[in-house]
Amino acid sequence: MSETPQKRLFIKTYGCQMNVYDSERMADVLRPLGYGVVDEPEGADLVVLNTCHIREKATEKVYSELGYIKQMKDRKAEAGGRMTIAVAGCVAQAEGKEIMNRQKAVDLVVGPQAYHQLPELIARAHRATGERLAADFAADEKFDALPAERHVTGVTAFLTVQEGCDKFCTFCVVPYTRGGEWSRPVNDIVEEAKRLADQGVREVTLLGQNVNAYDGDGSTLAKLVRQLAKIDGLDRIRYTTSHPRDMGDDLIEAHGELPELMPYLHLPVQAGSDKILKAMNRDHTAESYVKLIEKIRAARPDIAMSGDFIVGFPGERDGDFEKTLELVREVGFASAFSFKYSRRPGTPASAMPGQVDEAVKAERLERLNQLLDEQQRAFNASQVGKVLPVLFEKAGRHPGQIVGRSPYLQAVHAEGGEQLIGTIVPVHIESAAKMSLAGRLEPVLETA
Ligand code: 5AD
Ligand code: SF4
Repeated sequence: MSETPQKRLFIKTYGCQMNVYDSERMADVLRPLGYGVVDEPEGADLVVLNTCHIREKATEKVYSELGYIKQMKDRKAEAGGRMTIAVAGCVAQAEGKEIMNRQKAVDLVVGPQAYHQLPELIARAHRATGERLAADFAADEKFDALPAERHVTGVTAFLTVQEGCDKFCTFCVVPYTRGGEWSRPVNDIVEEAKRLADQGVREVTLLGQNVNAYDGDGSTLAKLVRQLAKIDGLDRIRYTTSHPRDMGDDLIEAHGELPELMPYLHLPVQAGSDKILKAMNRDHTAESYVKLIEKIRAARPDIAMSGDFIVGFPGERDGDFEKTLELVREVGFASAFSFKYSRRPGTPASAMPGQVDEAVKAERLERLNQLLDEQQRAFNASQVGKVLPVLFEKAGRHPGQIVGRSPYLQAVHAEGGEQLIGTIVPVHIESAAKMSLAGRLEPVLETA
């Protein structure tokens, strides 16, 4: 374990889970070249910032981080060493040339579809010649060229099955940074999942910007999930993020039938006013969303709902915002992510009239968060007294404590030995907080 890598690679990941997956794959691509991952950027040979462009704040963080990294690069150069700085991810895709102009210390910029080219780009940057930008490649080239082997350490893993988006919500940069919808072939995914299971992974989260639009050689996400559910050792399957318009009947049925498919669904709704939903180009109404949830709950009554919300979209008036609160009350969310609308250059909404004042956005966000927090606490509290199967993932912060996840994705703390990590154990839930549950292991009853 303590083998010193020849070259030190530091990767910092921003944004969504797909970036987490991509960062792991970048490490996989670079490992054969002698790069080992380290926890600190100071002194690293290669620093990769895997960036997020979704909101302005996320983008600005990257530039300020680059300022710090540049100082480390200068320190290393003074000591006679060399640090290569690479910017990857969606900011790289959207602002490639601009990054190089704004921060001269950046050696290379690599978009989300070109990670397999990292070794070559690094070699070129070292020679300081030629093209340093690689932003436009097809997604299939990326997956074909990434090494089949993955280096996983835990009992849960992400697995990208789909990339890109054709929905063009008017606020969102994803269709521009990640390109059109593309699905990986079923067999490739099944093979990757089997290898993960062989390495001890018990739970896999299928990733895609529009994961429920998955269409791999005509196979739907439901069909893919049914195949994955057959893999020995793979006991839990999750998927994220979904769009209401792609929530097919077969996927809803699968929720009712497959014990491996976890009863938790992240299904962003964004807003509760039909006027705003239309201006967002969401292609669903508040009512059609509520009806959809009713259908899903009819198939899987205990499903925990999660969502994304945007407040202060252009043209949103108090009455529109009240409709978002009404929808939240009607659906009941176990968890949620809410954001102030952020004006992204190049997206249709950024040019819309009726941009909302920052103070109004902040006030609405606070009110929405209050309601969502209450719902989250109430949902967690409703688990107290129940016995939930928990997949233990790691040791807790306190000695003798282990931490895992319930089927509803809540963190669960319990007293127990580390030999339980990687096993699914019934836990009697005794208390609940906003972010987690605590309980004790159910004694396994001896059968006479
Ligand atoms: N402003 C605020 N939130 C945004 N999101 C996407 N684009 C924007 C934006 N311009 C949110 C949406 C999406 C989540 C990933 O980020 O809620 O579902
Ligand atoms: Fe963005 Fe809408 Fe596509 Fe989601 S569905 S990635 S919010 S454009």
